[in-house]
Amino acid sequence: MIITRILSTSHLVGEHLYSLGNCFPKLTVAPFRSAEWMSSLGTAEAVIVMLSEPITEDDLELAPHLKVIGTYSVGVNHLPLRACKDRNIRIVNTPEVLTDATADLALTILLSLTRRLKEGEDLARSGSWKGWAPNQILGTSLSGKLCGIIGSGPIGKAFARRVAAIGMKPVFWDRNDDRSPVDFGYAIAPRLTLNDLLKRSTVISLHCPLTTETVGLLSKRNLQQLPIGAFIINTARGGILDEEAAIDMLHDNILGGVGLDVYDGEPNINKRWFTAPRTVILPHLGSATVETRSAMAKLLCEGLRVAIRS
Ligand code: DGY
Repeated sequence: MIITRILSTSHLVGEHLYSLGNCFPKLTVAPFRSAEWMSSLGTAEAVIVMLSEPITEDDLELAPHLKVIGTYSVGVNHLPLRACKDRNIRIVNTPEVLTDATADLALTILLSLTRRLKEGEDLARSGSWKGWAPNQILGTSLSGKLCGIIGSGPIGKAFARRVAAIGMKPVFWDRNDDRSPVDFGYAIAPRLTLNDLLKRSTVISLHCPLTTETVGLLSKRNLQQLPIGAFIINTARGGILDEEAAIDMLHDNILGGVGLDVYDGEPNINKRWFTAPRTVILPHLGSATVETRSAMAKLLCEGLRVAIRS
């Protein structure tokens, strides 16, 4: 009997998983928490999960041979990091290769929101458009305005380059409250205090991981610091933004708009988002390009190869 060495919940994009499986027979691909997945844990040396598939300490108990958990994501908030460390189980994720795709999507959301793309397209498609008009679907210009970026990691910096290219002034805040300026590649941007950043930014974009320090960071109290008409973009993780408070502030015309790619408790989306005004609501597409998902698979499988051999 050939026992499972690599257990994945997905085939990933491209052929990388199969090359890995050829190196270390046997590869099993089974849906997360299916009977086959649960029974394969017993012999698996490597497990691959998606960001929507939280591994628990109970799973680790069932996996005595586990050397490595690979996640097809940069985020690792769905993994039991401390328990893995205690058991010498390595974590392999996919940093860097999805930086540009995620920053591109954040910029896409920002421009869609501030230029009211959906309303414009709905009008054009409705068949009832009467022609150009001076006051028709007026958006908000961004040039010269402050963009508050929470998190100065690779994605935060890549987003800063993009907003600088459209004339915005990026400013940063980090959860360690470091105050040194950030070299984001094209220029140097200041790091402000969180209060200062919230009070002065027309746009707030989240690019930090979900951790004990960032959960609930954009709370009702912090959202109330923003200037009237500010925009919020979240391509990081649900749970950082107080969604109920943000929805209330949209209905009260306090926030200018909210664009989300991630949600607290996803894939369930708070139904109030569907009727809230001035929103862009996407199904977690940050890294969703063919090139990026293929590069993520390659990086992940290379990392697993090294971890299994060691
Ligand atoms: C990740 O990989 O963690 C990102 O959320 C992709 O969008």
